[in-house]
Amino acid sequence: MKIVVAPKEQMTHLHFLQDGFEEIAQKVKYFYPNEHPIIMADERVAHLYYKSIQGPFLDLGINPIWILHPSGEGSKSIQGYQRLLELLDRQDIHRRRPIIALGGGVTGDLVGFVAATMLRGMPLIQVPTTLLSMIDSSIGGKVAINTPLGKNRAGAFYPPEHVFFALEFLQTLEAADLHSGFGELLKHAILDGEEHFAWLRRNVLNCCSEKTVLEREDLLTLLQEEMIKKSLAVKQRIVEEDPFEKGRRALLNLGHTVGHAIEGVLGMGKGWSHGGCVALGLLAELSWSVEHLGLCSSEIDRIEQTMIRLGMNTQVPNISRAELLAFMNSDKKRTVNHLRFVGMADFGEAKVVELPIQKGSELLNHLERWIIRAP
Ligand SMILES: NC(=O)c1ccc[n+]([C@@H]2O[C@H](COP(=O)([O-])OP(=O)(O)OC[C@H]3O[C@@H](n4cnc5c(N)ncnc54)[C@H](O)[C@@H]3O)[C@@H](O)[C@H]2O)c1
Ligand SMILES: [Zn+2]
Repeated sequence: MKIVVAPKEQMTHLHFLQDGFEEIAQKVKYFYPNEHPIIMADERVAHLYYKSIQGPFLDLGINPIWILHPSGEGSKSIQGYQRLLELLDRQDIHRRRPIIALGGGVTGDLVGFVAATMLRGMPLIQVPTTLLSMIDSSIGGKVAINTPLGKNRAGAFYPPEHVFFALEFLQTLEAADLHSGFGELLKHAILDGEEHFAWLRRNVLNCCSEKTVLEREDLLTLLQEEMIKKSLAVKQRIVEEDPFEKGRRALLNLGHTVGHAIEGVLGMGKGWSHGGCVALGLLAELSWSVEHLGLCSSEIDRIEQTMIRLGMNTQVPNISRAELLAFMNSDKKRTVNHLRFVGMADFGEAKVVELPIQKGSELLNHLERWIIRAP
């Protein structure tokens, strides 16, 4: 599978691995002969998978260097970026030595930004290890770090040369990280249209039908390759049409205007996952769409019920509207006078909505239903 990400000659090659982790080493040797890659990995992932990944490289006479960063959103910071740059700078690096980003979306974004900027660009291979990174962040070429003012404010468009998908990684994910991935997976299905959403919902309802709420092991049973490929295809299609987010790609931000504000107020990385916040943002933005774009209100119930069955959180703690508004006002998608978010008249029919900044509160009214207010 290939996707075109402009400039035209820059392709990302997607590989679904069938023979386990050995294939990572084989493919790197094939695509980058005589190179010893630098594996920049999440500490937790390295702890779990170092032996299974390093062993096959050594067997092929390749000796990758490992550079680790602490797990969690905190690493996606200016300081985390500087530390990685300095560690990388001490290696014998050159413009064709590949960098492998091994980890979830945090690793992909952070290491991707390092690869984009070191020597004005070193070859990047993404090896996503979370559900969210498999269906979303590893493709599309957006890499970034957070600044004190908000998420992903310093970044670049820097597509990886290759992405290796190994679904085995999912087996060690915690439930919260699976839930986070399902947030973006729901988003893709809704953007794609009724057929995709209904298919996903049917799968969720039919899985372990004797249970009301799916547990971690059930989610792993539910997550077949087809579900991941279908979700990935939605992102791929939209990114191919608009690699630099001049138009349609902005639709992938569904749920993110309110979602990023929730993530910002609750504290990035403090137990609130990115995808979990996006799913809550999605409920609010679509609830606005019910009032203003004629989306059928039963769609909100269908999404919320699916989230509950997946074990996802549908309740936001008592957070201040003023703080949410401040985060929304620093959103990088906004224009001088308008907030921008994605609204929908129906599943599959999304459009970018511009709301005068002074009306931000109107959007937040639609989140109230899910906020637990102190009596
Ligand atoms: N660039 C993009 O287009 C894009 C799109 C969506 C999200 N993102 C970014 O992605 C980030 C969220 O990604 P994420 O949810 O993957 O977070 P993450 O990278 O922090 O991973 C979540 C947790 O899972 C652990 N982990 C990773 N792989 C594991 C495995 N196989 N087994 C056990 N534990 C594992 C990590 O150590 C971490 O604690 C956010 O920063 C978000 O902004 C970027
Ligand atoms: Zn996202």
